[in-house]
Amino acid sequence: MAMALRVTADVWARPWQCLQWTRALGTTATLAPKTPKPFEAIPQYSRNKWLKMIQILREQGQENLHLEVHQAFQELGPIFRHSAGGTQIVSVMLPEDAEKLYQVERMVPCRQAPMPWLAYREFRGLRRGVFLLNGADWRFTRLQLNPNMLSPKAIQYFVPLVDVVARDFVENLKKRMLENVHGSMSIDIQSNMFNYTMKANHFVIFGERLGLTGHDLNPEHLKFTHALDSMFKSTTQLMFLPKSLTRWTSTGVWKGHFESWDIISEYVTKSIKNVYRELAEGRQQSWSVMSEMVAQSTLSMDAIHANAMELIVGSVDTTGTSLVMTLFELARNPDVQQALRQESLAAEASIAANPQKAMSDLPLLRAALKETLRLYPVGSCLDRIVDSDLVLQNYHVPAGMLKTFQVETLRQEDMQMAYRYVLMPSSSPVLTFRPVS
Ligand code: HEM
Repeated sequence: MAMALRVTADVWARPWQCLQWTRALGTTATLAPKTPKPFEAIPQYSRNKWLKMIQILREQGQENLHLEVHQAFQELGPIFRHSAGGTQIVSVMLPEDAEKLYQVERMVPCRQAPMPWLAYREFRGLRRGVFLLNGADWRFTRLQLNPNMLSPKAIQYFVPLVDVVARDFVENLKKRMLENVHGSMSIDIQSNMFNYTMKANHFVIFGERLGLTGHDLNPEHLKFTHALDSMFKSTTQLMFLPKSLTRWTSTGVWKGHFESWDIISEYVTKSIKNVYRELAEGRQQSWSVMSEMVAQSTLSMDAIHANAMELIVGSVDTTGTSLVMTLFELARNPDVQQALRQESLAAEASIAANPQKAMSDLPLLRAALKETLRLYPVGSCLDRIVDSDLVLQNYHVPAGMLKTFQVETLRQEDMQMAYRYVLMPSSSPVLTFRPVS
């Protein structure tokens, strides 16, 4: 499935100053200038608007959006455009086009945030975090977050936290598997995996371990994960039509959307309060992204809350889905699974001595994860509003990863994926875990 990059252009005719130079394949011809074709010549995509609108209004969301976009690329080629509410949207899928877009991007990205997310923040008077910000505010916030999330030092701090939750998850699977009379166990992996990613992310972000052992979460955390689910689902039901229209036609969905955000927001407020309390009482139990943010005190409490909300929302389903799909692919590609097992056995001693080695000594695992992200891009679409002219496809676009188990599946056919803001399997694959003989 191709990743769609959507370019929003809001400027029309502007003189084009730059020429694209191409060398025809198989020729020794000298570089010849090729005049870009005008924006209007980009193949136009016309969705059957009425049918689509009725589908959205029936509150069915847009679960097949990714398939529709894939089909549009197959029919129209690697670039097409459509108009949405007076805005011209150009969709591209090739890496070379993504590269060009990143080249014209300046120090700060300009993106269109999901309208229902912004509507909630406006309604409650809440700030936006880094995911929803653009321009200078985005840059300032990213610079505060980066040292606590992306720096080698931060990674050194959070790898052991993820490791302890991962070991607990694996131990629990092992226990359940061995208790089973068949000596193996077939389970719905998705909910188990989401509980794991929820615990791992929560530990890293807030420094608190949820449900110390086992795979179950307590009712409060379950309420939170249900709220996450319904927030994503209602997002896709609301984001493709104007707010003015859905206000009248989808009041129930809006109500549900805001209620889900309220639960997420309260959960985050409570978790941050714990961080503040521990810091104030000098009894901080663990390193966490949030305790660093609070101690750093360059962001206001409101901004810390806004970013914590986006970090937890952005982390659970993305990593959960990627791991589920990696396990599914390994289950139906036993040779690759065997090769990965061998690689991890060979690297075991060096990684035990130095956990950082997990990054460099497991190249096959790394490749398997990357391949899963290529096959199942959880964030199926990226958008940028371009602020300088560029040429795409010779069209002028104006500005605007179980070491001790083997995992099996009887299923050889592909998984059906559903767009629920995060692209995820429409039903959970049943995977069988068996001890390696
Ligand atoms: C498989 C895992 C993940 C995938 C595929 C993924 C994908 C993405 C994508 C496509 C974007 C948009 C980037 C852009 O606009 O240029 C993004 C942004 C973001 N993600 Fe993730 N993500 C993943 C995991 C996570 C995790 C674990 C966290 C938090 C702990 C997180 C937090 C964020 C944040 C805060 C942003 C906004 C960044 C910014 O605007 O500067 N994501 N992610």
